[in-house]
Amino acid sequence: MIIQERIAFAVVAALTLTISATTATSDASLRDPTILQVTDDNIPNVYHRKFLKDALLLGTEERFKIFMKKYNKEYGSREEYVHRLGVFAKNIVRAVEHQAMDPTAVHGVTQFMDLTEDEFERMYTGVVGGGAHVEGVTTSFVEAGGLPGSFDWRKKGAVTDVKMQGACGSCWAFSTTGAIEGAHFIATGKLLNLSEQQLVDCDNKCDMVDKRACDDGCGGGLMTNAYRYLMEAGGLEEEGSYPYTGKRGECKFDKEKIAVKVANFTNIPIDETQIATHLVHHGPLAVGLNAIFMQTYIGGVSCPLICGKKWINHGVLLVGYGAKGFSILRFGYKPYWIIKNSWGKQWGEEGYYRLCRGHGMCGMNRMVSAVVTQVS
Ligand SMILES: *[C@@H]1O[C@H](CO)[C@@H](O)[C@H](O)[C@H]1NC(C)=O
Ligand SMILES: *[C@@H]1O[C@H](CO)[C@@H](O)[C@H](O)[C@H]1NC(C)=O
Repeated sequence: MIIQERIAFAVVAALTLTISATTATSDASLRDPTILQVTDDNIPNVYHRKFLKDALLLGTEERFKIFMKKYNKEYGSREEYVHRLGVFAKNIVRAVEHQAMDPTAVHGVTQFMDLTEDEFERMYTGVVGGGAHVEGVTTSFVEAGGLPGSFDWRKKGAVTDVKMQGACGSCWAFSTTGAIEGAHFIATGKLLNLSEQQLVDCDNKCDMVDKRACDDGCGGGLMTNAYRYLMEAGGLEEEGSYPYTGKRGECKFDKEKIAVKVANFTNIPIDETQIATHLVHHGPLAVGLNAIFMQTYIGGVSCPLICGKKWINHGVLLVGYGAKGFSILRFGYKPYWIIKNSWGKQWGEEGYYRLCRGHGMCGMNRMVSAVVTQVS
């Protein structure tokens, strides 16, 4: 046992050293002492140790079979099986790397381990344009005093159950409905499940500045485009009248069945205190971020040492924040955001992601919007 553990630790140390060696020249902040702690032989964290031990000691194929069973995976041919096993093996290495880069979260085997990074991005995210710019009017700064230390719209009943986008790049539609569901609840006291499928089937709106960034069903879209589509179309149906299929189909929108009308929307400034203030005052906010670490995320507060801020590929819903997150290594406690995702409850923390707050982490502060519903 002791020898096996040493092997595991040696691999962590080697991986971490590789990471710091390849990046140290490009970013001085990586010489941050925290990275040295990861290379420390004396890793105190059970999850981390157990995951690495499993990953290294259990045969990859054996692990792959457990994965297939757990997530009901089937492959059509022997070739496909072998190909997916290879992708899985690479993703195990990526999960170990993510763990070393993001020590306050737990990374491991998720339902996405048989997908390459490109496949994952294409099928399970879906923000177009990369967030190179943000359109529209930005709200004026609001007074930020008197915010609660922690806050959670789920506890106030403003958030529907975690949904599942499936293998369709429609995250933008889920982020949009989430923001409208919250705004409608705050305006009327009624929580409705609203229709993503209407947006997937009917919305082709393009960004006002980046004309190539258009809403395109399972091919991606933008939340701000979707608000503009809804303002023009007249409103949004409920999930019940226009259910989700996960495929783009013919537009079946029926004005008679409109449940909620959108009056307007605003983009929120990048300042995270402003984001918190808008969240508390206006309800859950639609957010774009870089989802790279989410492919292997199991739980905890994600706070990667590097996470590209400039490539936003995934739309999610900000529903709250906390002051002190559980931190598994000895990095101290981290304040975090609570983020609703659309990959079902099996992913992450019952479908939610916690991301550290105050660092513009993974670009989460660059594409934030609030929607205003029309109360008739
Ligand atoms: C939304 O739909 C889910 C799944 O069908 C259901 O469990 C939940 O109760 C619904 N929520 C509301 C507020 O209607
Ligand atoms: C939407 O909001 C912006 C700024 O918040 C305002 O200038 C604009 O007039 C509003 N549009 C409508 C239709 O209310």
